[in-house]
Amino acid sequence: MSIKKKKQKQTNKKISRANMRLNTIKMLHNNCRGGIYQSSKVQRFQVPDDKVDWSIDYPEYNPPDYTSSVVVGKPWADLDIDDPSFKPKWNQIDGKINRHCHNGIYKFDDNNRPINPAGRTGIRGRGLLGRWGPNHAADPIVTRWKRDIAGNITINNESKKQILQFIGIKRKDTGEWAIPGGMVDAGEVISLTLKREFMEEALNSIGKTPEQLSIITDSINKLFSNGEEIYKGYVDDPRNTDNSWMETCAMNFHDDDGSLVGSIPLEAGDDASNVRWIDIEQNLNLYANHINFIQLTVEKKKAHW
Ligand code: BGC
Repeated sequence: MSIKKKKQKQTNKKISRANMRLNTIKMLHNNCRGGIYQSSKVQRFQVPDDKVDWSIDYPEYNPPDYTSSVVVGKPWADLDIDDPSFKPKWNQIDGKINRHCHNGIYKFDDNNRPINPAGRTGIRGRGLLGRWGPNHAADPIVTRWKRDIAGNITINNESKKQILQFIGIKRKDTGEWAIPGGMVDAGEVISLTLKREFMEEALNSIGKTPEQLSIITDSINKLFSNGEEIYKGYVDDPRNTDNSWMETCAMNFHDDDGSLVGSIPLEAGDDASNVRWIDIEQNLNLYANHINFIQLTVEKKKAHW
């Protein structure tokens, strides 16, 4: 990457971090612009920064229309927008599906497709996402203080602040480290998604016997009974398109004395190929804009950054 591009990326990251605090979509999405769309050969139409906003006239804009065959006909996905039996209730809870956007009311294009509230992405259709409009995820940020062998909390030499650690997983799809979150299933309450995804990806609950599971469930229930909301809204996810996008609710579950999660053996499962405690600092490279959620957690905990 050129120095100019790198600088631009850093500036954009700063802008999006500042705007994240406002829970309005003023973030300039980056991960879903330019390049080849994930797991495809489809090139996104290149959208410059000053043309992301839909309110800016852009007559040359001519993005390809792409919905992956992985999505078509799946029980967890919507039907084609033109299918006569597809009768969604937009901007609200539609039966078991949440079509409500955390950031406000979304609009529609001339083909009655929902429009990405954060702006142009250079690709139309659903790409790899199942739902037209918002696709809801939940992200559990499980944290503890870093400690030395003697059990004392570790302080960073420069900031003189305590170092926070979180449980991160390595995603199988992109190979990037991430918060062990996942999609909210139809009809599922977010509190359940948070716990289920954490247990599947960071503890490999699917591969455990009922006896093994009952041992860890007690600590997990205690830990997850006390969470703090960190962020709710649009995610700058690489799969986003002009008509489908990711949103999340990120919650922090902090184990202050390390007694609850310390005893739980981490084991990657489901969509994760690896799992570990990660020391938090500002240069971490994480999936989508997960680093923003981690930063908000650090600020709440007044930890080292
Ligand atoms: C991930 C979440 C993430 C969301 C939006 C989901 O696939 O599991 O961790 O926040 O996508 O990027």
